Amino acid sequence: MARIAYVNGRYIDHAYANVHIEDRGYQFSDGIYEYIAFYNKKLLDGDLHFKRLERSLKELQILEPVNAGALKVIVRELIERNGREDGGLYIQVTRGVAKRDHVFPKNVRPALVMTICGAKTPKAHEFTDGVKVISQPDNRWARRDIKSVSLLANILAKQEAGNQKVRESLLLEKDGTVNEGSASNVFIVTPSGTLVTHQADEDILGGITRDVLLKLAKKAGIKTEERAFNIIEAKDAAEAFITSTSINVLPVVKIDDRLVGKGSVGAVTKKMQELYNAHIYKQTGK
Ligand code: PDD
Repeated sequence: MARIAYVNGRYIDHAYANVHIEDRGYQFSDGIYEYIAFYNKKLLDGDLHFKRLERSLKELQILEPVNAGALKVIVRELIERNGREDGGLYIQVTRGVAKRDHVFPKNVRPALVMTICGAKTPKAHEFTDGVKVISQPDNRWARRDIKSVSLLANILAKQEAGNQKVRESLLLEKDGTVNEGSASNVFIVTPSGTLVTHQADEDILGGITRDVLLKLAKKAGIKTEERAFNIIEAKDAAEAFITSTSINVLPVVKIDDRLVGKGSVGAVTKKMQELYNAHIYKQTGK
């Protein structure tokens, strides 16, 4: 089946889908995005993603390109037209097309683009054996809570991880605080069994997977704390894992040159994988 994209009101063959060169997303990174997984053609935690999309738009004073109801109709139609059962939905909204000027243009319609891709799930052995990560300075701007398309510092950090043949870069403040990964949130399990992740503030993207996991952990009676922790505490942790829409719950067994815990996937991480997989199944039947 052909790959179809949605571009400003039209469903177009992906190969020919394009936007104008003066789209402000292209010139200024003046836009936001969401990436949502779907299984059996059903969005996973769609409402939470749509809520975050609305919030990102509001924070940047970009108008909603279409109302919430219409957005859902377009999403359903696009998934249908692409004929995929499982995969990822990318939604991008930019302030629109206007003559290049830093000041917001007046009377410009925001641009809405959506694409569908295959699931970017890690390999089976990465879930069972865990992955290695490195630490890198967090060079991003100060509003990481907005899911902005401005990802230059993120991609540089991810590239460095690739260069060093590891899965992810943990982004650190100058004082060693671990904010999050270049495209993921970070959890550690303390030696006493508490699940810890950075508080949802302007220093991190409040991941949907992160929020869901915190709720699932609390419900299962696992002690949780949302607080800052530094790279030394992370390396001394009993367990660690990273989370996102595409990687789910991915165990981390090595940070820089240090094994985390015994260097294998720990019991709390396994439990969180189980709980999250059950959450996916409950919502989507997959
Ligand atoms: N990235 N932090 C950052 C910087 C991210 O880019 C992401 C996700 C997350 C996790 O958020 P969520 O659980 O809502 O996916 C945290 C997506 C997958 C991406 O950029 O494609």
